Amino acid sequence: MSSFGVLKRSFSTSSVRQVIKNVTVIGGGLMGSGIAQVAAQGGNNVTLVEVNSELLKKAEASITNNLGRVAKKLYKDDPNGAKKFVDETQSRLKGSTNPSDAVKDSDLVVEAIVENMSVKHKLFKALDEAAPPKTLFASNTSSLSIGEIAAVVNRKDKFGGLHFFNPVPVMKLLEIVRIPEQSEETYQAFVAWGKAIRKTCVTCKDTPGFIVNRLLVPYIAEAIRMMERGDASPRDIDIAMKLGAGYPMGPIELADYVGHDTTASIIQGWHEKFPDNPLFNPCESTKRLVQEKKLGVKTGEGYYKYNNLRYWLENKSKDVLNKNEWTKQYKLWKRRLKINQSKLLPL
Ligand SMILES: NC(=O)c1ccc[n+]([C@@H]2O[C@H](COP(=O)([O-])OP(=O)(O)OC[C@H]3O[C@@H](n4cnc5c(N)ncnc54)[C@H](O)[C@@H]3O)[C@@H](O)[C@H]2O)c1
Repeated sequence: MSSFGVLKRSFSTSSVRQVIKNVTVIGGGLMGSGIAQVAAQGGNNVTLVEVNSELLKKAEASITNNLGRVAKKLYKDDPNGAKKFVDETQSRLKGSTNPSDAVKDSDLVVEAIVENMSVKHKLFKALDEAAPPKTLFASNTSSLSIGEIAAVVNRKDKFGGLHFFNPVPVMKLLEIVRIPEQSEETYQAFVAWGKAIRKTCVTCKDTPGFIVNRLLVPYIAEAIRMMERGDASPRDIDIAMKLGAGYPMGPIELADYVGHDTTASIIQGWHEKFPDNPLFNPCESTKRLVQEKKLGVKTGEGYYKYNNLRYWLENKSKDVLNKNEWTKQYKLWKRRLKINQSKLLPL
């Protein structure tokens, strides 16, 4: 069980929080821990559910670390204010390893577990039996159909997609996905909650990839196909889109950043469902990279090679809680950096 404190405070009385006040987030990985954090920052009582106490601890450490960063930004010259912010937010968070128990008093459940339909079905079936009739259900899936996920629950009128973006505390957008059975009341509650946790909400139907990924994934795949045909080099494609279209990152760099395992599995799923759509054709070079475990920035190599010390410091070092272990790993990455100095991005 996590050491998060159990909620003791009462909150403001805005109509939003009267509808959604107690939130359960299932899955404390990359997305779930971020969703739990922003929900708690927004004044909700949050229960974060993981499969075991070790993973719960990891999620807790990641949230504590991120909250510290947010506090530093918000309360630059006010250490007392920063401490109060962190303490109060943490007091609204608790952990659990029992999903059925965790939804007993929940107004909203946000699911952010592994991207697998049968695992999500098993979870939602159990939650549908355990949660009170008032509880709204949402999935944060990136690539699965919300309607198909909802097929196993009786409360389809209370079901929808709440699609956050990584990193959740930083990215402003929330896609709210409607299914035909969703009630207007549920939709309005999702919109109000999205605003309450300070996200900018957009709405769409239950269409593959929703808005952002439906445009982004075929764009990335098209850039990779361009590179595979030899029409232009990865470097030139990236520079062209940055300087010619004003994008902050080129499509090949972006593919490395998102991770080739993620994009390959999204596009493979769409391809199997819509084999006649050429925009959803899997890319051969991406498949090869996945086989070679060159997944992009997170493994140090994809279409480009990366300075892994920086990646480790920004993303992984916070998970190492033991000081001696931290120093050991830091030295290791620094040594690797020296060896790889000549091979840094772009190739
Ligand atoms: N990673 C992204 O950029 C991103 C962006 C938007 C949406 N999503 C979606 O969010 C979901 C989660 O993705 P992620 O990147 O956070 O994955 P992740 O692997 O980082 O985290 C998933 C977590 O869920 C936990 N889990 C699995 N089954 C569980 C269960 N039955 N009960 C409780 N916990 C369980 C796992 O232990 C793991 O910690 C997926 O559906 C994914 O498509 C991901």
